[in-house]
Amino acid sequence: MVRVRAPAKINLCLHVGGRRDDGYHDLESLVVFADIGDDLTFADAERLSLIVDGPFAGALTGESDNLVLRAVRDVAKLAKRDLHKRITLTKNLPVASGMGGGSADAGATIRAFLLEWPKEEIRLRDFAELAGRLGADVPVCFFGQNCWMLGRGDEITRCEVPELHAVLVNPGVAISTREIFANLQTRTGTESIERPDGFESVDALIEFLQSVTNDLGAPARSLTPVIGDVLNALRAAPGIRLARMTGSGATCFGLFANAQAAQSAAAQIADDHADWWVKTTMLAKADSEEDA
Ligand code: C5P
Repeated sequence: MVRVRAPAKINLCLHVGGRRDDGYHDLESLVVFADIGDDLTFADAERLSLIVDGPFAGALTGESDNLVLRAVRDVAKLAKRDLHKRITLTKNLPVASGMGGGSADAGATIRAFLLEWPKEEIRLRDFAELAGRLGADVPVCFFGQNCWMLGRGDEITRCEVPELHAVLVNPGVAISTREIFANLQTRTGTESIERPDGFESVDALIEFLQSVTNDLGAPARSLTPVIGDVLNALRAAPGIRLARMTGSGATCFGLFANAQAAQSAAAQIADDHADWWVKTTMLAKADSEEDA
């Protein structure tokens, strides 16, 4: 049995550049991962199957071709063998929420097979390319570590980021990434942003983050105004250092001075908005352990 975590992906900033010939946009994004996420298990079986459970399983019912199954089929093709597994996906994160979702699950699935793969046969490049074919966010989720994500999402370089006390808030509205990109009116320019290869302190990181933004924030707020309410709720909390939307939304993160401030903010926001999903988390922690 292999067990892997598909952690929530958080874009600390997201700069959208020009539209490319392949229809995608060039991105520059500082990406970190949370210590919460979906969970996957893979057990040997007679045939390939997927069971989805967990608090957000309902949002996936009726989905005929889950990205997890597509990832397994593609890995099987790469391996030139049948991969008969009984897969359980425990959906702890809201779907279509800017935290990776299906891409995080697919990235973790590819990692799961890497754990089982005979080491002498591994060609990481093949796995990374396979990830890129499944979706723009899958390579970064497969990588699963603090990094700059460039190109359409397939160029990844490591970045040192200190651990961050954070609160994640989702107002319960699913968002289509495609629709947000289509609604992107004014591009803040195709110029590249300065990209440090690391941050020595939380202060240095916050100072940098204040000089950049999430370009998808404005189009997402115009389509889903409640995102503005989420940001206001985070910004009103004592000890908040920075609040921003992740990915194409609607989840927003707040960075806090310490764990206590994060916990108090989460409790207050959850109290005021019983229908919102609110979680405290640590972002950018060093590698999480996975069991083979
Ligand atoms: O690859 P994926 O299906 O996850 O992307 C969803 C949508 O987001 C794409 O269809 C595209 O409209 C938009 N997108 C983009 N440029 C990127 C990533 C995603 O335009 N780099």
